[in-house]
Order: sequence, then C-alpha cells, then structure tokens
Amino acid sequence: STKKIGVIVGSLRRESFSLAVAKAAVSVAPKELSLEFIEIADLPMFNQDFDDDGKTPESWVKFRNKVKEFDGFIFVTPEYNRSIPAVLKNAIDIASRPYGSNAWDGKAGGIISVTPGGLGAFGANHHLRQPMTFLNVFMLQQPEAYISNVADQLNEKGEFADENSLGYLKNYMEAFSNWVNKVSAS
Ligand code: FNR
Repeated sequence: STKKIGVIVGSLRRESFSLAVAKAAVSVAPKELSLEFIEIADLPMFNQDFDDDGKTPESWVKFRNKVKEFDGFIFVTPEYNRSIPAVLKNAIDIASRPYGSNAWDGKAGGIISVTPGGLGAFGANHHLRQPMTFLNVFMLQQPEAYISNVADQLNEKGEFADENSLGYLKNYMEAFSNWVNKVSAS
C-alpha cells in the first residue's frame, strides 16, 4: 500500500542546498511513497509554558497533527557546527510534547545530510539519530546518505540534477521505501 512520507528540511534558506536535494529525492522516489513537504519555518521556539497555560500556538497544534498523519519521515538537513540546525531540533521537540503525546512515536525515519564541504555533514546525520531513536522513530541504518560538495552537483537552475547524484538518491529512496514497509507493515 502507499505510504505517506513527510519531508522535513533543516534549512530555511531561500536557496538552500538541502532543499534542492530534498526536491531531487522526491523526484526519484518510488511510486509507493506519497511524499509531502512539512514546513517548520513558522514554529515559535518551544516553551512548555504555552502548553501548560492553555496557550498552545496554533502552528504547534497544526504541526503536531500533521506529523501524526505520516508513516515516516525523510529529514534532509545541513550541519551547523557539527550538529543539526536549531530550527530542526525545535520542530522535533515541539512534536514530541506535551509529555505522553509524542507524535513521532513508532514511525520510520531516514536522513540525508547535505554540505558544500567535504565531510558529508556527518555530525548532523549522527546527532539527528539520537533524539529520533529516543522518540521511537525507527531510523534506516543502511544505506546511509551523505551528500558532500553539494554545490558542485547543481545545474545552472540550482537543481540537484547530476545523473550520478540522482542515481545515489534513487537507490537511497528505494531502500527507505522497503524500510517503511518493514516498520509499518499494513
Ligand atoms: C555552517 N556550515 C557548516 N557546514 C558543515 O559541513 N559543517 C558544519 O559544522 C557547518 N557549520 C555551520 C554553522 C552555521 C551556523 C552555518 C550558518 C553554516 C555551512 C553549511 O553547510 C552551509 O551554510 C550550507 O549551505 C547550509 O545548508 P543549506 O542552507 O544550503 O541547506
């Protein structure tokens, strides 16, 4: 059956390399995956008082409900200072609360880490695994997806369109599709 996958990009930058890679990943994904971008830009920074005081921001409510709709998630993220960007961690934290209603629970996850540098945003890729594993998201372990030197793989329109690069992403998305079927067999 078709699986619903949310695509979450860890950068808000207009010309984000991660966004370009995410679009390419969607374009080569197997037909059994129904992919949809989930926006995280408008989420106020987490503060438990908002929930405790009955003043939960509307954007949090929407985001938490949105996350619950999906069978799995593909995170496409840059690395900030050898970890994940705060905007991504904030989104993860918001949907993990209030205590006892973790919207991520039991779903499947995959990570594509992206950098114009040479180290594949390895630090972000592995830091992201720590909260997601704790939140009971079953993270695809192999194959891994590290995109280094991303700027060299864009065409004049800023698309991640190089044939080898797309082949790499296609392979990853097929493995992720198989993984989602294992995690949510129905
Ligand atoms: C970076 N960048 C970066 N790159 C990297 O490979 N490892 C790192 O630890 C960092 N650290 C870092 C910190 C901060 C605060 C910024 C703003 C940037 C560079 C980063 O990879 C580059 O800006 C990318 O273009 C960001 O991804 P998007 O926005 O293109 O998706």
